[in-house]
Amino acid sequence: MTTEPSATDGDVEMAGKPVRPPLEIELLTLFPAMLQDPLAESIPGRVQARGLAQIRIHDMRHWGLGRHKSVDDYTYGGGAGMVLRPEPVAAALDELRRPDSTVILLDPGGEVFGQARAHDLAARTHLILICPRYEGADERIRSLVDVELSIGDYVLSGGEIPALVVVDTILRLLPGAIDAGSTAEESFAAGLLEYPQYTRPPVFRDLAVPAVLTSGHHEAVRKWRLKESLRRTWRRRPELLEDRPMSREEARLLAEVSHEESVAAADAAEAEAVQAAEQADVDRP
Ligand SMILES: C[S@@+](CC[C@H](N)C(=O)[O-])C[C@H]1O[C@@H](n2cnc3c(N)ncnc32)[C@H](O)[C@@H]1O
Repeated sequence: MTTEPSATDGDVEMAGKPVRPPLEIELLTLFPAMLQDPLAESIPGRVQARGLAQIRIHDMRHWGLGRHKSVDDYTYGGGAGMVLRPEPVAAALDELRRPDSTVILLDPGGEVFGQARAHDLAARTHLILICPRYEGADERIRSLVDVELSIGDYVLSGGEIPALVVVDTILRLLPGAIDAGSTAEESFAAGLLEYPQYTRPPVFRDLAVPAVLTSGHHEAVRKWRLKESLRRTWRRRPELLEDRPMSREEARLLAEVSHEESVAAADAAEAEAVQAAEQADVDRP
């Protein structure tokens, strides 16, 4: 792999203040249509319209070999499927790569993409994403890239959907892309899952919105959200809490959550035992 450029390479100065140039993203694919519409809509579309990012989609066949613009071939040693050849990728990178580029290969065996990597990539200036298909990429392509990313432990048919996942996650982190409050409080931003959110109606099928949220008491709402964020993380993704530094307030709220959860578990076990005993009475001849 080549070395990764610094996240601040390419910053320019304006009136003494560093101004971010748009994040430039090149996508190398055999199926450009798979990428066009999703990147033209909603937040990705708005981010580009506002000049925060420039996205270019390239058909890899442009660098294909021979009359048929071939980009893949059979696998040496035998086996099903076609493998992406290194020459078209190398030719594309020769044309597109700059000193500030970060070249990313989408691959199920890569680093599992997460919010920390998304923040890191959002701070860079030029990303090139390679989207293989079929059986994947010739091993030597790995020597041409800076980062290999997987979006999870499952196999998709090609790198386009993983690339969309990566690019969409990055775009919404660009300063000015969306309300800063939204990205600051959502899941993983502070290493926790997000707290429960509610909208109207106040009661839906006997399920009421927690009273604190309609109290107008901002500090109580803040504490409730932090506590419920800790509770949800503790219940669903306890490993996220393992190495996460905690403020004193968080540690206190987490201790409360842990106590409440064990009381609730004991109550539930007792209720189950009572129910089982009652059922045994009913069943007794
Ligand atoms: C059918 S897959 C190839 C799988 C490959 N033979 C393997 O077993 O690892 C074709 C391409 O889809 C992309 N892909 C599939 N699953 C992925 C994942 N979980 N994360 C990132 N890219 C993925 C990669 O670009 C991959 O080269």
